[in-house]
Amino acid sequence: MLAPKSGDFGYKNRKLIVLHCCQGKLSLRVVILESVDAVTLFAANEVSSLLKHRTTNGLGAVLGLATGGTPLGLYRELIARNSTGEISFANVETFNLDEYVGVPPESHSSYRYYMNENLFNHVDIDLAMTHVPITCGVDLEASAADFENLIELAGGIDLQILGIGVDAHIGFNEIGSSLGSRTRVKTLTQRTRQDNARYFGSVDAVPQTALTMGIQTILEGQSILLLATGAGKAKAIRDCVEGPITASVPASALQLHPNVTLAIDRDAASELANADYFLAAERNRAVASRSS
Ligand code: PGA
Repeated sequence: MLAPKSGDFGYKNRKLIVLHCCQGKLSLRVVILESVDAVTLFAANEVSSLLKHRTTNGLGAVLGLATGGTPLGLYRELIARNSTGEISFANVETFNLDEYVGVPPESHSSYRYYMNENLFNHVDIDLAMTHVPITCGVDLEASAADFENLIELAGGIDLQILGIGVDAHIGFNEIGSSLGSRTRVKTLTQRTRQDNARYFGSVDAVPQTALTMGIQTILEGQSILLLATGAGKAKAIRDCVEGPITASVPASALQLHPNVTLAIDRDAASELANADYFLAAERNRAVASRSS
């Protein structure tokens, strides 16, 4: 059991708070950075400041975590900061977005293995407090329901880290996912299976299905930080930020969330019609924070 979180009104009430916020000021912040390293640093600073703030106040934190290539730099940086004592994961609970169906945790292709190798085994986290959807030897529907219950018991996710697919999927919420979806089994698109073939040796070896947090589950996080780098993500970022909200672009649902930040490099921002506006907004934000 983690230390309580500040202002912990309980998960059910938090949903009401999110709805309430949506009726007021929505905030989708787009931070365009010079390089992949700058995106990594920005993300590490966001996570670190949450953990430090909670630690200072003797409180726990709940992180939603992503896999894939994009967050690897972030995890390396968090490990480095943990090793110097700058941040601690002793009071942190984590929930991963997704896991392939039928891939056992000990398999090198599983997301449990990825998380252990790339973060958990190198920081002071209690492994029992790390949750990756369980997809082997279980009833998948029951496993999905258990996962949702665990998030609720933890008091909800404070900060959800996201990557984005080239087709704008988030988690494994593929094109056409209901914006109101919760944790469940999804069939992967051929595109996603091709993109992830690098982890399995061949596209045929990539599972057909995965258990993934739903879009609604993701939207219930208190804050969301989406990371994207490279020109391959430029169209997905444009559709996510500047397109209509539609199940055909799962990431566009983030426009409904009151506290989303996209940290992206110039290549990933290259198709944004309003890139100059977002850059100006960040400059003004910096000026405002210096003068406050
Ligand atoms: P990537 O994957 O970080 O490996 O590009 C992102 C995703 O598919 O969500």
